[in-house]
Amino acid sequence: EKGGWPSFMDKEIHEDPSAVADTLLGRFDAKGDIALDEVHIDEEVFRSIDKIIVVACGTASYAGMVAKYAIEHWVRIPVEVELAHEFRYRDPILTHRTLVVAISQSGETMDTLMALRHAREQGSRVLAICNTQGSSIPRESDAVLYTHAGPEIAVASTKAFLAQIVAAYMLGLYLAQVKGTMFADEIRQIVGQLKAMPAKIQWVLDHQADQVEQAARRLSGARSFLFLGRHVGYPVAMEGALKLKEIAYTFTEGFAAGELKHGPIALVEEGEPVVVIVPSSHGRDTLHNKVISGIEEVKARGAFTIAVAEEGDPDAERYADVVFWRPACPTLLSPLVDVVPLQLLAMDMAQIKGLDVDKPRNLAKSVTVE
Ligand code: BG6
Repeated sequence: EKGGWPSFMDKEIHEDPSAVADTLLGRFDAKGDIALDEVHIDEEVFRSIDKIIVVACGTASYAGMVAKYAIEHWVRIPVEVELAHEFRYRDPILTHRTLVVAISQSGETMDTLMALRHAREQGSRVLAICNTQGSSIPRESDAVLYTHAGPEIAVASTKAFLAQIVAAYMLGLYLAQVKGTMFADEIRQIVGQLKAMPAKIQWVLDHQADQVEQAARRLSGARSFLFLGRHVGYPVAMEGALKLKEIAYTFTEGFAAGELKHGPIALVEEGEPVVVIVPSSHGRDTLHNKVISGIEEVKARGAFTIAVAEEGDPDAERYADVVFWRPACPTLLSPLVDVVPLQLLAMDMAQIKGLDVDKPRNLAKSVTVE
């Protein structure tokens, strides 16, 4: 059942490309416009949506954070991302024009289920992004957009994260289409770029895995790791940190690169591993340069720096001790490739430490209690 792989996690990381490709399938009409046939909510209702609130836990919440950057940019409506277990306790502002998007791999996470029940009681519509047909969360939602990642067995979520981003992006592009906030050509261009992602993810799996394993060997004794990123790299940093703590039991913190100087830099001492998600170097704009200067700052304090950067980025080459390369792609789509070496890193570190990669201590695949 592991298909020859040493662990389910290994198998599932290698299914990242197909999770993306399969989640894109069947979402278009003959003209190439986005048609979310399975979502039985009228176009008119979608047009009236003026706010999105994503509710989710763990990895799914980071997929929601990634989607916030894209959807706000494309649709020009506010997107809030709330941990499902916090949501009900703060008297959230919900109207019939609010779309609550519940993201869950298992569809059984009780915290997320309770959050969506609360949203529906307040008169909001709930759309589930879910990987498990017929599970509780889609059953209790007004609509569902299934991710087609295939069954995910390893406790640490990997391929489902990529599929959740793709599904949320399809929702965002669909909203842009019905609300007219983007031209059809622009939407098609992004869809084309999304369709090109599985090959780029495959490239990372084929050409960066050895580099990641070497880094894991070198760093397996480290007591803690810091992860930093900016813009969509920020939730990727959070997800990378979560993977490493879940699977390799390494103390990690993920944070927004801009926060460095407001606290976390105090943690940096000689040899501290710091993983930095570097945005596209194309044009080497402010976003890219700001993150590079973050690398310089931690390096000046003795950090061992690991960058995830675009192939050929001269700054990453110059300032980072180790680089995991990604093929060039638009910034908003880069999380789909950038998370892959971080998934591999966590898995390799756990394996080197002799831990059970698929069943980490104290964790369950789906948490059906509040
Ligand atoms: C957790 C799992 O407890 O639940 C995480 O260990 C997962 O991997 C989180 O991200 C949310 O699960 P789900 O099924 O709602 O996506």
